[in-house]
Amino acid sequence: MNPNKVLWEKGDFTRIAQTMRESGEELVESLGITPGLKVLDLGSGDGTTAVPAAKRGADVLGVDIASNLVEAGNERARSEGLSNLSFQEGDASDLSRLDADTFDLVVTIFGAMFASKPFDVAKEMVRVARPGGRIVMGNWIPNDPTLVAQILRISAAYSPPPPEGFVSPMTWGMEDQVIERFTSAGVAGENISFERGTWMFDYAGSPSDFVAEFRSYYGPTMNAFDAAEANGRADELREELEALFNEQNSHRDNGSTSIPATFLRVSVAT
Ligand SMILES: C[S@@+](CC[C@H](N)C(=O)[O-])C[C@H]1O[C@@H](n2cnc3c(N)ncnc32)[C@H](O)[C@@H]1O
Repeated sequence: MNPNKVLWEKGDFTRIAQTMRESGEELVESLGITPGLKVLDLGSGDGTTAVPAAKRGADVLGVDIASNLVEAGNERARSEGLSNLSFQEGDASDLSRLDADTFDLVVTIFGAMFASKPFDVAKEMVRVARPGGRIVMGNWIPNDPTLVAQILRISAAYSPPPPEGFVSPMTWGMEDQVIERFTSAGVAGENISFERGTWMFDYAGSPSDFVAEFRSYYGPTMNAFDAAEANGRADELREELEALFNEQNSHRDNGSTSIPATFLRVSVAT
């Protein structure tokens, strides 16, 4: 089975996604969604951005590699009464089930960055977007001092080295790499632009409890703990992550957690 599918089906990302809803709303607000707009949300999870886009009247398809998240997304669409929103399984590096020139907007927030074969991902996003459409990506930034890059940095120190030829998802946070990928897919350089944004994680519990959520439900962190446990280092990893989460918590009292994380917003005119 595709190792990416195994990774994301291992946990339950809906638990983390619940802490990201406010920023999902804000991002969608900034997209200027109008009724009837055709939107593809790639690596949609259970709909952090797909649900608010559909609530604004867009026709939204969420595509995600993890069947549990597709199911959770369809359940949310049903319970919100959104007949203009559906989710299906698919791999961002091969969207052959989708026709070319279909979507006014392809949005992918910390989604497509995790797919293998990044050049294919860029090509597929450009192929399914209609000429005159847009692609908007949210990507984490390598070596950034804020939460997610630091979780991945700490976790890597406890994990076996990646297989040869592995391209880190974090390379989608490097502007030169993004430009190379989209220009190879036929986009003119002047149609690619970048800005930095802040994403909030809001959790109704202490930073240490939030680390425990990552440990139990976030596939990449689950794998890091599996590797650390095998080496008798799980407590060390937990302590390092707890120190990070506590340090970055912007709430004064540690009974609840609000952590900002910086991301690269990529906009492409197709
Ligand atoms: C960090 S989560 C973000 C989910 C969602 N965009 C959100 O903001 O809540 C990453 C998502 O990308 C999905 N994903 C990972 N690799 C993928 C691939 N190759 N194709 C499609 N989705 C993928 C995962 O299953 C997961 O739902």
